[in-house]
Amino acid sequence: MSVAVAAEQDRAPLFDGLREYARKNRIPFHIPGHKRGRGMDPEFRAFLGENALSIDLVNIAPVDDLHLPRGMIKEAQELAAQAFGAERTFFSVQGTSGAIMAMVLAAVGPGDKILIPRNAHKSVWTAVVLSGAQPVFMEPEIDPVRGVAHGVCLATVERTLEEHPDAKAVLVVNPTYFGVCADLRGIAEVVHRRGIPLLVDEAHGAHLYFHPALPCSAMAAGADAAATSMHKLGGSLIQSSILNLQGGRLSSDRVQAVLSMLTTTSTSYILLASLDAARRYLATWGEELLTRAIALAQRARREIGAIPGLECLGPEVIGDRSSSYDLDPTKLCVTVTGLGLSGIEVEVLLREEHGIEVELSDLYNILCLITPGDGEESVCRLVEALRAISREHYRKRPATPVVVKTPEVPPLAMSPRDAFYAPAEPVPLFESEGRIMAEFIMVYPPGIPLLLPGERITRGALDYIQEHLEAGLPVQGPEDPTLQTIRVVARA
Ligand SMILES: Cc1ncc(COP(=O)(O)O)c(C=O)c1O
Repeated sequence: MSVAVAAEQDRAPLFDGLREYARKNRIPFHIPGHKRGRGMDPEFRAFLGENALSIDLVNIAPVDDLHLPRGMIKEAQELAAQAFGAERTFFSVQGTSGAIMAMVLAAVGPGDKILIPRNAHKSVWTAVVLSGAQPVFMEPEIDPVRGVAHGVCLATVERTLEEHPDAKAVLVVNPTYFGVCADLRGIAEVVHRRGIPLLVDEAHGAHLYFHPALPCSAMAAGADAAATSMHKLGGSLIQSSILNLQGGRLSSDRVQAVLSMLTTTSTSYILLASLDAARRYLATWGEELLTRAIALAQRARREIGAIPGLECLGPEVIGDRSSSYDLDPTKLCVTVTGLGLSGIEVEVLLREEHGIEVELSDLYNILCLITPGDGEESVCRLVEALRAISREHYRKRPATPVVVKTPEVPPLAMSPRDAFYAPAEPVPLFESEGRIMAEFIMVYPPGIPLLLPGERITRGALDYIQEHLEAGLPVQGPEDPTLQTIRVVARA
């Protein structure tokens, strides 16, 4: 980074501008009605504090407007674009879900084909329903040891594009929740050969931009758009995110218009300020902070790997599968089947006996994220807790043989949009085989649908859902929260 750029990145015009405005102590006759907290529950006011409440504003002229940025928000977005190597950056107060929906809806319309990994997040599928686009599934590489999907490889994208030369866009998830990155540069190249945009769900990759030892980011790989979750791993407040653009295959004005359609008119300035401050912190201190986080994670990976019954996903394991995969070392995916326990059982033991919360668990694994918010102490606590669980459980139960079942992909019988809007009726979940799904059912986290609207329900899919329910995993999505019934397309 040049001296001039470094000096620019040291600024936080939006955060500073809001504090400056708050200092003026203007008399507000506008929303929010709590008026700097004076009109709100006193206990909540005291808890949040005066500073936060003083910048809980609405889009009055002096503080700019996310829907038509001309002042401090525009400047903050421009600084973010510079930091992320994008041509334009948009702030999102609708999480990464909002950013994903905006990039998909800006890229494709009714009937357009878009290539998508079947294990994409529900926000991608929501955008498919809203746009009326026709999804073409790409199968991710499945890790037979852990039962997790490692993202779509270059050869799959190439083959699917050959089969569907009329596709209008390609979307990939990179990195995956578990930190696995595909050959994104290669994927961008084959997608661009067709003259269409590559959209990246980069929910788990905000930090990749700020350390040379981390895998390649979406913008560096040449992707056209990336929805990058600042609140997940970039240090901003929960629900704030960004959408990065470059390359001109997607019109930035169209993206701005679509994002605006999807965004509340009462945008939170606390969230926006947190994006500005998080960008400044990453751009100025990110490399140093991440060097420490990577070292902590690598030590934890070594120590966890030495615990009987546990295995920690490492770059060598990914390297065995395909040299074109890369791993974000800050994600610790710990496979626990050697203890004879499920991932969810270890999650509960960590919570109830050790005061530790993991990011997620599934049938075989737990996932822990190491970030600049960690220190020696938190990481040692995790390793110690896993050692204690191993001492107590290793060889007490027969080690679960690793029989990894991967979800069967049910056939798409109707477009997701047509199924979602078709006349529907509730039927008992486990008597729905052969019917066409009219809603979503997923495990959250990670929010990947087990069944999508338009898919014909198979026995395999129902067995897979049952297995997740029996393991106590958070299956959700249908209108009936008890999951007794699901909505399927009504028979004519
Ligand atoms: C892969 C992926 N994409 C998108 C999202 C949506 O992000 P957000 O919760 O910020 O809307 C998530 C959230 O978990 C995710 O895991």
